[in-house]
Amino acid sequence: MADPAVTILFEGRPLTCRPGQSVAAALWDHGVKVLSHSPKYGRPRGASCARGHCMGCLMRIDGVPNVRACNTPVREDLRVARQDTGAVYGRPMQAALANTGHLMPVGFYYKWFTKPTIVAKLFMRFIRPLTGVGRLPDETARRAEAAGHDAAPPPRSRDLGRWDTIVVGGGAAGLGAALAAEDRTLLIDDAPRSGGQRREALDLAAAGDGDPLAGLHRLRRLREVLHQRDALLDAAPHVTRAAATTVVGCYQPDMLLLRDGTGLAVARADRIVWAAGALDQLGLFDDHDLPGIIGPRALYRLAGRDGIDLRGRTAVVWGHGPDQWLSAALLHARGARVILALDPTAAPDADALATARRLGWRLLTGVRPLAALGRAGSLAALRWDAGQGGTRDETACELAVICGRGKPVYDGAYQLGADLVLDPLRGGYVPRGAAAGRWDGRTPAGLRLLIAGEAAGATLADLLEEVTA
Ligand code: FES
Repeated sequence: MADPAVTILFEGRPLTCRPGQSVAAALWDHGVKVLSHSPKYGRPRGASCARGHCMGCLMRIDGVPNVRACNTPVREDLRVARQDTGAVYGRPMQAALANTGHLMPVGFYYKWFTKPTIVAKLFMRFIRPLTGVGRLPDETARRAEAAGHDAAPPPRSRDLGRWDTIVVGGGAAGLGAALAAEDRTLLIDDAPRSGGQRREALDLAAAGDGDPLAGLHRLRRLREVLHQRDALLDAAPHVTRAAATTVVGCYQPDMLLLRDGTGLAVARADRIVWAAGALDQLGLFDDHDLPGIIGPRALYRLAGRDGIDLRGRTAVVWGHGPDQWLSAALLHARGARVILALDPTAAPDADALATARRLGWRLLTGVRPLAALGRAGSLAALRWDAGQGGTRDETACELAVICGRGKPVYDGAYQLGADLVLDPLRGGYVPRGAAAGRWDGRTPAGLRLLIAGEAAGATLADLLEEVTA
């Protein structure tokens, strides 16, 4: 039997939600896409990355400011509010700030009002709150926190000990590395289930009406490989899994600080495999930051993990590459009306195009987004550049998924001492000298470090080449 619905209070309004979904997803289902505003210009912000890597979903939750709504599960009577609305934080003040922005250039906050102390205090008292993110927890939250502190000493971090190998990341590259390691291995994955950000999307798409993965042979193969590797790991005695666990810091030469549902933990290793994947990049076009514009990885979370209601919604999937096709297949499986907009570099094969036509997806070819158009603060349409100075009609849509090259997650590898170099063609910072999505060597402190998969600059297309070879 399904768990009963829960009710949260959004700015005093009761909203019925599915248990297990995030606050951001629950609000989306109730038509609330604007969750916050940018501090300086008051631009609307919404769930953008859906995995705790941006500021778009910072809200006041149960009296505590700056809580990420995309990572907070709903529960009965949870109090949720935007923290930048009302008389002082709302639109009039944001408009005033936007019109006086030229008086506050970059560096304004930190350089001009820190001395003398009296000025710093006035600044903190009157100016900083205008950003809408500076109010302290309310009295109830403060009391609850104080009671918690009185009742129990602060939790100590657990020591998970030393391992021969620690693998960070449970996607295709991480699973492959964990299987290849033959010594005592700890596999750390921020998801409850291994298989990476795409596994759930692949499973849902495969179960969708009309078999949306039918003509997408390499994505079907990826799904098989992820399931196979996961099953092999279940039977691999050398591997211990740490699921739903996030790496929050890496300390040279060989220590990782972790966080899971019970608190903090540390672990050390002789060898670390950094296979933490990539983040979405949305490209540049006018108003590309409107709520409702996301990347494929955010879609996999919102439509996969959180199950947002997409039935009958019009969604544009623009770009190229396998993530575009997986996004379209997932949206179709979730009941959305799919518009597949191929950029001029896209080169889909005949089977994929046949699938798109069979499923009734509308096709646009050779287009790039020129601008996003909004209504009530969130996406209402995309305007296209069709090349050679031409423009196309606008396409009305409630959701746009922008599929390009991801940005490698490099922070942990960098903290461990990897030598990184900015490579725009590979999406951001990648290990110097990395070849074919792989860098294998030693850090200056002597740690054996392997950086693999998208974290080393590979694309999903590269990974598909590997798994289908
Ligand atoms: S941190 Fe929540 S959407 Fe990015």
